[in-house]
Amino acid sequence: MDNGNGQDNTIIEEEFGISTESYFETMGDLSEAEAQERINDLVARLATLAESYYDSDDPVASDAEYDGLMAALSGLEELFPNLAILDSPTQNVGGKASELFSKIEHSKKMLSLQNAYSMHDLDNFDTRISKDATGCSYTVEEKYDGLTLVIRFKQGKLENVATRGDGQVGEDVTANFSMAQLLPGELAEPVDIAVRAEAFLPVKEFQRLNSERAAAGLKLFANPRNAAAGSVRQLDAQASSLRGLDYVVFSVESETSHATHSGQLAYASSLGLKTGYIGKAATMADAKTLVGQIGERRDALGYEIDGAVVKVDEIWARQEIGETSKFPKWAIAYKFTADSVLTKLLGVTIQVGRTGVLTPVAELSPVFISGSLVARATLHNEDYIKSKDIRIGDTVKVSKAGDVIPEVSGPEISARTGQEVEFEFPTTCPICGYEAARENGGAYRKCLNPYCPQKLERAIAHFASKGAADIRGLGRALVARFYSEGLVRDIADIYKLKGKTDQLQELKNFGQTSISNLLGAIEASKGMPFSSFIYALGIPLIGHNAAKIIASHYQGPAQLKNASLEDLAKIDGFGMASAMSIKSFIDGEAQWGVVDELLELGVSPAVEAKEKRGDLFKGKTFVITGTLPTYSRNEAAALIASHNGRVAGSVSSKTDYVLAGENAGGKLAKAESLGIRIISENELVEMLGLLES
Ligand code: IVH
Repeated sequence: MDNGNGQDNTIIEEEFGISTESYFETMGDLSEAEAQERINDLVARLATLAESYYDSDDPVASDAEYDGLMAALSGLEELFPNLAILDSPTQNVGGKASELFSKIEHSKKMLSLQNAYSMHDLDNFDTRISKDATGCSYTVEEKYDGLTLVIRFKQGKLENVATRGDGQVGEDVTANFSMAQLLPGELAEPVDIAVRAEAFLPVKEFQRLNSERAAAGLKLFANPRNAAAGSVRQLDAQASSLRGLDYVVFSVESETSHATHSGQLAYASSLGLKTGYIGKAATMADAKTLVGQIGERRDALGYEIDGAVVKVDEIWARQEIGETSKFPKWAIAYKFTADSVLTKLLGVTIQVGRTGVLTPVAELSPVFISGSLVARATLHNEDYIKSKDIRIGDTVKVSKAGDVIPEVSGPEISARTGQEVEFEFPTTCPICGYEAARENGGAYRKCLNPYCPQKLERAIAHFASKGAADIRGLGRALVARFYSEGLVRDIADIYKLKGKTDQLQELKNFGQTSISNLLGAIEASKGMPFSSFIYALGIPLIGHNAAKIIASHYQGPAQLKNASLEDLAKIDGFGMASAMSIKSFIDGEAQWGVVDELLELGVSPAVEAKEKRGDLFKGKTFVITGTLPTYSRNEAAALIASHNGRVAGSVSSKTDYVLAGENAGGKLAKAESLGIRIISENELVEMLGLLES
């Protein structure tokens, strides 16, 4: 699709290897062949990234981008388990030992850590732990952001140092460490011991190294981790190039007589090895406090950490709990999620909404933000892009506005290469070519064509959506197909489909079952509640709440048609703007003409009895995720329950609403992928406030 800037969306897709059309959202709708194609693309792209990430210390993508692609792949593999390839990167911890170093085989596979993105994830972890082991306690440590090493001492003497490599075979970097004199050549006791440690470069040393490199005309390191990896993995390391490197031992690999992990680390420290902060917590509640404290002092540490690690302290309990092929089940890394994440702005597409508003959408190299994958983000409007000087090709900061909708908050000017291009906002609709103007100096440019296909398509899809006519199966993709085939060109056409079965049968991949299911759903929608009908019409400013108010004041379309502006404006909770919007819809020949046509076709909205306060959420299932701004999750659950709603623990196709707060994680992503309505605490309160008035 041309985005009005002469840039073709397929270029973005080619460069990027996967469809940027929010693949989480559409994953469930993919055919096997399409899913296979995406899986292949993702595997190839991840392989290239993994190579540069682990093997050349020169990443071409940020961690968040990498995690994003990985999440997309896991998501697809979950939905299409038969398509997952055996050596998928999701099954493999990544990296391989470079041919240039001698190899050291690890005595056991080096596992990774499972991640938590919210305190709630930590509670779930605690619940899992308590099923396998009772009476154990936790340690809380910093999660150092460097490179893993396995360090072996024989009879107290440094034997070798290995990188992680592919988890099974690492590189022998002993010579570099001997030269750096960073590790003790000899321990305090002549013991055989293997420890795991993280090597890292403190921030000051990183800055020094980079300014020296800049002076020497050398390429700069992207971050301290890559700088550390670069130093450690030099083939002919000079002592000077290892200057400033530091390490912290975070686990003892070999067996010791100590019954706890914290005891083992204290022992390692007594032998002369460096260990870091180890907090002890009797309960998960205490552990969470310690995690929070680490987060607070994060910026003052002088070295980079990307989270906190919570581990079961007792060795016996770890044995009971066990491990998967990827990670130990007794430890979890709480990832500090950046408020904003950097990624590349690959392009800008223009979305035309059902009211004709042209919204610029940032097509991003996917990133993980607060536990969910973000591939597209809003750029709001023309003025926003200009005032922030956001250009295509920019490295941009992406954050979650209002916790849920991602937005591009601005460019990272220092990352500019000069190749970035300004985005020229189209003055015509990218869909129909008709004039798109800013009315009365408003911020939004609107397509002025009342018959713009995109507007109509969106309006039809809105009519059929959940909460509106709720016609199962008639989603955006199918509406687009029907539209282009000429089967459905306006809302009323939906109800004429039953007379077009011949044409429906000619459609590819749309079998008899799909046809009869669809026609059944269309028939059933004829008796939709009156409030849903009003909402489905897509009248500007009239959302669910306003539609409910109207439906509680008027007994069906005929009565509504006779409403005067004064009557409408008098309705409690209704502003003049909403009243005028309704009135102009009623008076608009084309608009009300659609209503008449729908009624003629047999649509007969069920007039609702005035809703009882207590039944507002009857039959509705909520899932609560993340931290809400004012209510605790329990309070919110009680509120929902007091209106007869149900609160479930996990998101499924049966979920009606996901109430999402800050740091919402996987549940939010899942809700997005299933197209479930996501609401904020504010919206919940609004829904409730409506009936209190
Ligand atoms: S414990 C068996 N503790 O994170 C798993 N790892 O994502 C043992 N890391 O490869 C890992 N700080 O390089 C552990 N305090 C810490 C850590 C830590 C950083 C790194 C480590 C590991 C990676 C796992």
